[in-house]
Amino acid sequence: PLYTIVNQDTCIACGACGATAPDIFDYDDMGVAFNLIDQNNGNIKISDNLIDDLEDAFEGCPTESIKISKEPFTANIQAR
Ligand code: F3S
Repeated sequence: PLYTIVNQDTCIACGACGATAPDIFDYDDMGVAFNLIDQNNGNIKISDNLIDDLEDAFEGCPTESIKISKEPFTANIQAR
């Protein structure tokens, strides 16, 4: 299983991730991205059918703000 969060401290609101993976990422009023599936808690498994979008968004983020982990982010904020 894969989980994801956006590091909102480094996101520059470029808008790429929501275009690439609209079922995973949305933007707040400032254009800063978040994981819409679990309100950026990173504790709900990403569906298998969305993994390709997730990987594309991960690779496309210019600031490496998208974090992916095989473990839920609740206990451990570290990511690959
Ligand atoms: Fe922000 Fe990266 Fe998305 S900069 S808007 S998290 S592609």
